[in-house]
Amino acid sequence: MTNDVLAKQLAGLPVKLLHHLARKRVPRHFRMGKNRLIQTLLALSPDQQAEIETSLASLLQEPARSPDLPKPPDTPSRPSPPRHNVPAEPAPAISTKELFEGIGVPPQRPFKPDDWQQEAINHLATNDVILSVPTGSGKTYVALEAMRRAIEAEQTIIYTSPLKALSNTKLTEFSQTFGSDQVGILTGDRRDNPQAPILIMTTEILRNLLYDAASGEIDMRLDTLGLIILDESQFLADRERGVVWEETIIFAPAQSRLLLLSASIGNPDEVAAWISSIRSTSCHLIHHRNRSVPLRAAYLDPSGKLAPFFRTRDIAHGKGVALHPETKRLFANYEDRTLGPRKR
Ligand SMILES: Nc1ncnc2c1ncn2[C@@H]1O[C@H](COP(=O)(O)OP(=O)(O)OP(=O)(O)O)[C@@H](O)[C@H]1O
Ligand SMILES: [Mg+2]
Repeated sequence: MTNDVLAKQLAGLPVKLLHHLARKRVPRHFRMGKNRLIQTLLALSPDQQAEIETSLASLLQEPARSPDLPKPPDTPSRPSPPRHNVPAEPAPAISTKELFEGIGVPPQRPFKPDDWQQEAINHLATNDVILSVPTGSGKTYVALEAMRRAIEAEQTIIYTSPLKALSNTKLTEFSQTFGSDQVGILTGDRRDNPQAPILIMTTEILRNLLYDAASGEIDMRLDTLGLIILDESQFLADRERGVVWEETIIFAPAQSRLLLLSASIGNPDEVAAWISSIRSTSCHLIHHRNRSVPLRAAYLDPSGKLAPFFRTRDIAHGKGVALHPETKRLFANYEDRTLGPRKR
């Protein structure tokens, strides 16, 4: 078969059958668009091309096993047999304009806490609470409201974060909400207003303070400490630093309520069960995956071009994720530029 005839036959095939032919012959074929895939198949060695021609001939002779092949005009239609090897036809790809449609500032409406936010605040009156909810869903509101209630009850509050930068951001945020005289900070670099009722610190500093308090070395006014907020508490699972979160929870005073915030704890129910087993009150878990602001994914190529990452606007998960053809093309070009021509 000449290259032209083969090229014509390949061009008449659905792209999924081209991938079928490319399997084990063309590296990273699943990232290629139809035209590029055909060109790559045509550039294979003569032996591999002969194999392709044989596979193609058998596919064309066995339409029953290849339901996606175009049918000859006189073939009576028959019910499609179950599909095994060939993936389902992907959804039509969205345009970049469609990806950005509807993004903007939502209309103003009166603030009303979500049910899970209210539930968390109610439970904090008597229980420890883990808030394991997605990014941007409103954990801060729960933290601020719990802090406001603790201050009203003349209790002190410690807020910890794993990063000095986040601690500094929180100092600004809490000072705006509660007044700068109400907020202090203790990190490796800064020590401001340490007698304030709201103290921000890195989790390591809190753990060390609790160590010292346990050995009777310092008076930390632990008896008035009503609320400990551990932000980014997924650090509990960190190979090196996780022990700091673990010891902080173990040494936390019995009367202080713990509020653990995270968008990415993998096993929050196990963490809640563990905290309940070592503390005098039970730990209430609030866990949901509803995103108030849905995420959309785009691919920004180093050339400056932007394309939708997936064929659909929703973010795809799991096996057989369908990448956007433009993103595939841009990425394949990028690989060619940076890794050199593909081995064929
Ligand atoms: N019940 C609500 N209704 C409408 N908007 C809300 C509600 N709760 C919080 N928000 C708004 O949602 C935005 C994101 O909230 P917030 O910063 O608390 O998210 P977060 O869960 O702390 O996210 P991250 O994981 O990124 O820290 C804020 O602008 C906040 O004002
Ligand atoms: Mg937050």
